Amino acid sequence: MILPVLQYPDPRLARKAVAVEEISPRIRALAADMTETMYAGDGVGLAAPQVGESLRLVVIDISGPERREDLHVLINPVLTLSGEELSADEGCLSVPDYSARVTRREFAAVRAVDLEGRPVAFNASGRLAVCVQHECDHLDGVLFIDRLSRMKRGMLDRRLKKKAAEHGR
Ligand code: NI
Repeated sequence: MILPVLQYPDPRLARKAVAVEEISPRIRALAADMTETMYAGDGVGLAAPQVGESLRLVVIDISGPERREDLHVLINPVLTLSGEELSADEGCLSVPDYSARVTRREFAAVRAVDLEGRPVAFNASGRLAVCVQHECDHLDGVLFIDRLSRMKRGMLDRRLKKKAAEHGR
């Protein structure tokens, strides 16, 4: 089932999510729905808070909705970052029609649990490293636009305000 994706400035996007305590049928269904929603939205990642569930669960597939070859369902992920600071373009299903360069660390060592409750550990670099950092930020209530310079963020906020005014209330 495709779920509605919350959009900035929905306050639920700014909340810190809580750990998944048990991999129940509800969690499995949520992960499946999030995966479907991510592909339908042409996204490469989606975090549970984006669909209104304040839980530490993310889905990622940087191969994209056409290929669907590299799906990661990560429960309670923890990252250890290393390497240089690099900037790359990012977008987010919760911030439609906007992308900007964000500075992230080059490598992320990922530890999590999968849907079977098995421990998962892998080292991410390149686009996958960017994506895991972006998605795990959502679990702490942080959006990529929170990492922009004050000037860039101000420009975005003014643009969104103008758009909201144009579309009426
Ligand atoms: Ni996002």
